[in-house]
Amino acid sequence: AEPLRIALAGLGTVGAGVIRLIETNAELIARRAGRPITITAISARDRTKKRGVDLTPYAWEDDMVVMGERGDVDVVVELVGGSDGPALACARTTIEAGKALVTANKAMIAHHGLELAAKAEAAKVALKFEAAVAGGIPVIKGLREGGAANAFERVYGILNGTCNFILSQMEDTGRDFADVLAEAQARGYAEADPTFDVEGIDAAHKLSILAAIAFGAKIDFNSVDTAGISRLRAADIAQADSLGYVIRLIGMAEPGIAADGSPRLFQRVQPHLVPFDHPLAHVDGATNAVVAEGNFSGRLLFQGAGAGDGPTASAVVADLIDIARGEIGAPFSVPVAELEEMPAADT
Ligand code: NAP
Ligand code: HSE
Repeated sequence: AEPLRIALAGLGTVGAGVIRLIETNAELIARRAGRPITITAISARDRTKKRGVDLTPYAWEDDMVVMGERGDVDVVVELVGGSDGPALACARTTIEAGKALVTANKAMIAHHGLELAAKAEAAKVALKFEAAVAGGIPVIKGLREGGAANAFERVYGILNGTCNFILSQMEDTGRDFADVLAEAQARGYAEADPTFDVEGIDAAHKLSILAAIAFGAKIDFNSVDTAGISRLRAADIAQADSLGYVIRLIGMAEPGIAADGSPRLFQRVQPHLVPFDHPLAHVDGATNAVVAEGNFSGRLLFQGAGAGDGPTASAVVADLIDIARGEIGAPFSVPVAELEEMPAADT
């Protein structure tokens, strides 16, 4: 069978992880996808950087923005990051060239997902972003496909691995905030600008995407009421512990109805006191957990590694396997034109 030929834009933590996964599991992937998935072109900022993977088999492309226009590429995998800049330019060019796009970039999807999805639907190409929310946990597929028959009443959970790693390490070892953040960066969990993690912005990006999938709402990142963990100190964690709680950064989205009967959406990210006997209190390290309450499924709990090269690559390659099988589908749970306008609920 003809291989699915992919180009990688971005060769950092996730990009190198995708190369390792595609090389390690090549046979298994080819069997499940019905054809091989092969990397043809790669691009990043620094061509000479050592990345722990052999890049010599792949063509280097200086300008990632035009990767989607190459004749030897069927899908571009955008793993650069940033809501705008080269990532967005690369995404637009790829879809406009009639090629599929896979991305792990929650900032770009939170800000430009509707535009990109509308373009992808018009061009009849796939746009997939499983890795953008909760790392290795297949929560987008879980809600969009597994939960498709449900009206979801609430979605909430731990959506940032870096913050959860910091909070649980401070709790278990009494280590200092800055010291644990540095370790999260060294392990590849944090965003290029870790402010996005510790100020709750990354979790807000993910929450706005999850809400769009779960409730069929237009993404509305600007309406997420957002607070992070940067002001928490060891004393706060010790005090919570003495009262029977742990502190976790939780994102929560819940649809509602305004007095005039129009739909509303409550979206908030903030540190919560979680009682010791709640399942989210035992989610430690860079793990994420998402709870979705469906009107027929009941409470669904998705839990697993929320950050890092392997888990994130796993989600990226799952999207590639879907594309290799010919699954285009709507990027969200319904076509963009049918997503509902749900203004922010009064809080
Ligand atoms: P990263 O390690 O910082 O890698 C970013 C890559 O993009 C690097 O190869 C870098 O090139 C390249 N790049 C950055 N700016 C560029 C520019 N202006 N022009 C050309 N290339 C540029 O980031 P990452 O952790 O792999 O994350 C990539 C994406 O995945 C982000 O959207 C992130 O939010 C998302 N994500 C990450 C994780 C995770 O656990 N890390 C999990 C889920 C989703 P050089 O290497 O040459 O500098
Ligand atoms: N910086 C993100 C986190 C990466 O720590 O959760 C995964 O999206």
